[in-house]
Amino acid sequence: MQITLESKPFAGIEAEALVSYVFEESDPVQGRLAEIDKLAGGLLGKLAKSGELTGKTLEFTLIHAPSGLKAARLLLVGAGKKEQFNSATLRKVAGAALRYLKLRSVKNLALLVCQAQVTEEAAQAIVEGVLTADFESDKYKTDKKNDKRIESVSIAGYADAERGAGEKGLAKGRIIADSQNFARDLINEPSNKMTPTILAQKAEVMARAAGLSVEILDEKRIAELKMGALLSVAQGSVEPPRMMVITYNPPTAKHGAPVIGLIGKAVTFDTGGISIKPADGMEKMKYDMAGGATMIGVMRALAALKPNVKVICVVPSTENMPGGRAQKPGDIQTAMSGKTIEVLNTDAEGRLILADGVYYAKQLGATHLIDAATLTGAIVVALAGINVGVFGSDQAFTDKFLSSAKAAGEKMWQMPIDEEYREFIKGTVADIQNISSGKGAGATIGALFIKEFTGDSPWIHLDIAGTAWNDDAKPWMAKGPTGVTLRTLVHLVMSY
Ligand code: BES
Ligand code: ZN
Ligand code: ZN
Repeated sequence: MQITLESKPFAGIEAEALVSYVFEESDPVQGRLAEIDKLAGGLLGKLAKSGELTGKTLEFTLIHAPSGLKAARLLLVGAGKKEQFNSATLRKVAGAALRYLKLRSVKNLALLVCQAQVTEEAAQAIVEGVLTADFESDKYKTDKKNDKRIESVSIAGYADAERGAGEKGLAKGRIIADSQNFARDLINEPSNKMTPTILAQKAEVMARAAGLSVEILDEKRIAELKMGALLSVAQGSVEPPRMMVITYNPPTAKHGAPVIGLIGKAVTFDTGGISIKPADGMEKMKYDMAGGATMIGVMRALAALKPNVKVICVVPSTENMPGGRAQKPGDIQTAMSGKTIEVLNTDAEGRLILADGVYYAKQLGATHLIDAATLTGAIVVALAGINVGVFGSDQAFTDKFLSSAKAAGEKMWQMPIDEEYREFIKGTVADIQNISSGKGAGATIGALFIKEFTGDSPWIHLDIAGTAWNDDAKPWMAKGPTGVTLRTLVHLVMSY
């Protein structure tokens, strides 16, 4: 999709659709809308009076052949209350407009930015909005005859003085959105086409093309390094595990500066193992590698955005299968750190592979750790598909992360990891056990288990089990993989 800045006055823009957003106010026809209203002979005022045009969030009003405009259609999208408007709303408005028009076979559109919002941030949000909205998860449909495609989007409203900022936002938005869609493509693949070996190959190809250093550890190397927790999950499958390490190391990184470790769970299919899951809905467990895919996507973006901080990405990957050699409930495993784990439920496998993942990232020199994982059903119960569950060992680091989440427009909610919960995973026959001996706080228990392997490094755990996959399409995003946390992580790293 081509995306450009359009400096022509909006009345002369010859797009198939001109999109403008409307605020929910007693009189929604203001600013540039008032100018459009004048050209259109008072039509918008009439629509507002009749109650059809209110500016309520994501209300659509489509006007064909608007008089006074060169565009074939005028689409008005509600943006809610002006006081609450921010780049997160703009991102959604832009994305929803694209999907609305795509469905109606429109091929090119122009989006008019309000005078008060012609900034770098707005251009970035719009580009992120339209590119992530354009993603479809229908790769394996063979009949593409009737496919609808948006070919070009132009962003209007930027005068010459603001053009530089607009272009900058546009370029940044494209890198981030393309990386998010890259991750979504990986997540969307079914498990027969996305094994640990294939994921590692894709990560390697991306890293080399982007100029990042990359090392893929195979099952032999993983065994040599004594990554017993990862191996214990992998032993039930005929597919060998992989540990991916992608490093971004800029010459500008200062000696003694923080080194960020990004660790992602990549279970390419989670049957539960011997503690097998019920058949109903099991097909969704192909997205159990979303955390790993998202971290690989973050590295892709960082390679292009070039922050001043070193980042080490570690992605442990395996299937969780109930094969003849699979680990069994009660088995005791030794993690790379030397800690012993009693595996009471083989379906709590994400925390096992992350135990070795975070420990290895630390060994490689990471000082600040962030892991992302589709870790627990409990976080789905607590937060559904709305908020990412955030757990942190260091409040200053967590606060910095949460402010990046706000800036990136990704909803997150901090959850507790008080020391008191540790009691629940205290081992009886080994150092720790992989599930709780008590009831409740399942997401916290999962987080606390991982924390056991982080030492005293500042660490954040992101449980994306509920948010990595949209069960239904949203007006601004297709059904399927979301790539959530990528934008926040990129924002965080860029803020160092
Ligand atoms: N991959 C699942 C978690 C999950 C659930 C992801 C729903 C996406 C949607 C994870 O490996 C798992 O099975 N967790 C168990 C842990 C339990 C056995 C302590 C769970 O949440 O049920
Ligand atoms: Zn599981
Ligand atoms: Zn899992």
